[in-house]
Amino acid sequence: MSGRLDPPKIPRRDFLGLSGLVASGLAVGGSLVGMARLAKPAVTPEVSSSFRVGRAKDFPAGTRKVISEYQVEIISTDAGLAALSLICTHLGCVAKKQESNYLCPCHGSLFGMEGEVLAGPAPQGLKWFALSQAADGSIVVDSSREVPVGHFTMIV
Ligand code: FES
Repeated sequence: MSGRLDPPKIPRRDFLGLSGLVASGLAVGGSLVGMARLAKPAVTPEVSSSFRVGRAKDFPAGTRKVISEYQVEIISTDAGLAALSLICTHLGCVAKKQESNYLCPCHGSLFGMEGEVLAGPAPQGLKWFALSQAADGSIVVDSSREVPVGHFTMIV
């Protein structure tokens, strides 16, 4: 008679069948986990801080052109080109260009045409980014490098 201290013996055939079932379950489960991981990339691409905004001829002197894809405005003067960030320095919303200023739609910060704060809550003006000309002639903005307000780069 079997009891708590003397459990019933499992026949060898049942034990092997149960072991096979467990092994199959683990294999199927492992495969499903592997397939689920395939759908998600293991490495997410890092957003580049440098981007091409066009060619010098796209920015004639005396013009300003918003590149909405990158939230910058390219300012072109006789002194060269400059890249003004449109990212609000308060909490990062994108400021909208108006006739003579930039308005942040989130909390109402107002910036002048050089990005200076006209009304808060933004703690500081819009940033100016470095730009350069690539070997192929395109204008490259580097949003990881700030330059002083009013800094223009002469492009030849
Ligand atoms: S994010 Fe622009 S004012 Fe708050």
